[in-house]
Amino acid sequence: MELRGRWALVTGAAKRVGRSIALALAERGANVVVHYHTSTAAAAETVGALEALGVRAFALGGDLSRSTEVERLAGEAEARSGGLAVLVNSAANYLRVPFDHLTEAVWDASLDTNLKAPFLLSWSVGRAMRARGAGRIINIADWAGERPYRDYLPYCVSKAGVICLTKALAKELAPEVTVNAIAPGPVMPPEDMGEAERQAIVRATPLRRLGSPEDIARCVRFLAEEADFTTGSTYYVDGGRLIA
Ligand SMILES: NC(=O)c1ccc[n+]([C@@H]2O[C@H](COP(=O)([O-])OP(=O)(O)OC[C@H]3O[C@@H](n4cnc5c(N)ncnc54)[C@H](OP(=O)(O)O)[C@@H]3O)[C@@H](O)[C@H]2O)c1
Repeated sequence: MELRGRWALVTGAAKRVGRSIALALAERGANVVVHYHTSTAAAAETVGALEALGVRAFALGGDLSRSTEVERLAGEAEARSGGLAVLVNSAANYLRVPFDHLTEAVWDASLDTNLKAPFLLSWSVGRAMRARGAGRIINIADWAGERPYRDYLPYCVSKAGVICLTKALAKELAPEVTVNAIAPGPVMPPEDMGEAERQAIVRATPLRRLGSPEDIARCVRFLAEEADFTTGSTYYVDGGRLIA
């Protein structure tokens, strides 16, 4: 798909991986709706960085754990852009809670934001794309959706759900809209992670280093721009973490 002049909505695009995805799409001429939740100033900065690349951009806020806000986001992004060509579901929370301390609230917070919101957005925007005859949906999952690690049970289950959601949406929205997922490995650890834990992750990764947000952004761009005969797939961009 030619991206120049088309609109993409990237959730969680104020910072980190989502911001890199927005910039990578803009480098190919795509206009971008920058979704954010709490990072208002960073979202404004990202809009400025996108406009400096010569594309159009605007920010839309919204708490994705609330379905009314997800519906409003989908409606406003569709209306103000004139119709989205690309949807990237990148926003997520990453709640570390040891098994014995889990609560229903942690489960709900993980599943609502990480799985239900991508479903609701894709359901709304995907059907509009289908009616227009074309579209690309790209969901950001996690290698841990295939092989869960400890202390993040609801998060891992939410990402397994994203992988299945991708396959199910791909069936429902074919042939007009393709739906694919990317399962990142360690590309940008949480800011509060210590050096020892970081080094342990590097040792457990066959390529012996952390990746970068740009690794994910390049894969998103490939799926949006070039992968015309691919749908329902999950791309592991994980340095081999899954096979370790
Ligand atoms: N970083 C990695 O190494 C890695 C590895 C595997 C998978 N992933 C996946 O890749 C994606 C991006 O990773 P990341 O590290 O950039 O993520 P992140 O920094 O943890 O979160 C991205 C954004 O999600 C938004 N968000 C969180 N809760 C929200 C809510 N209730 N409503 C709306 N937005 C909400 C936040 O927006 P605000 O800041 O505006 O509040 C945040 O900036 C995520 O899906 C993550 O699970 C990342």
